Amino acid sequence: MASLRLYGDPALRRKAAPVTRFDDGLRALARDMTAVMHGHAGVGLAANQVGAAQRVIVVDLSGGEREDEAFALVNPRVTARTGSFADEEGCLSFPGLRFPVRRALEARIEAQDLAGNPVVHEARGLLARVLQHEVDHLDGVLFVDRLPWRRRIAMWLKLPGLKRTYAKQKAA
Ligand code: NI
Repeated sequence: MASLRLYGDPALRRKAAPVTRFDDGLRALARDMTAVMHGHAGVGLAANQVGAAQRVIVVDLSGGEREDEAFALVNPRVTARTGSFADEEGCLSFPGLRFPVRRALEARIEAQDLAGNPVVHEARGLLARVLQHEVDHLDGVLFVDRLPWRRRIAMWLKLPGLKRTYAKQKAA
């Protein structure tokens, strides 16, 4: 199983490249990502978080509780956003950290499935939030970048300490 990359790992800031080959390698990556997501009780994961710079995300709002809930999206793009709401958000690459983050309430996501077929999600609420968060990852954007400026300044002061903590966790 691939290992989860924590904040401070350069892979998280790398912009992922579009997928052009819908082959066994892609399916294996999605399976691996799903296992990592479930292993950390997450509801979403982007390929950057396992060090693969490809535009692939996996989502499972049940956190692995219900079978067949997990799905993968390839080359996902947010093509429309409506409304906004703030809610507590976390990220598997920032263990132990949660913040209210403002996101669009409704988002249209156009993507492909693992076979390359086009898929569209008209998402709302939690699903819209998770999809926006994961698509951000593919562009090297992290949820701490989405905080209101006051919190972001407080965060900047905390980030070097977090990096050290996570580096130790990884070594342990
Ligand atoms: Ni995340």
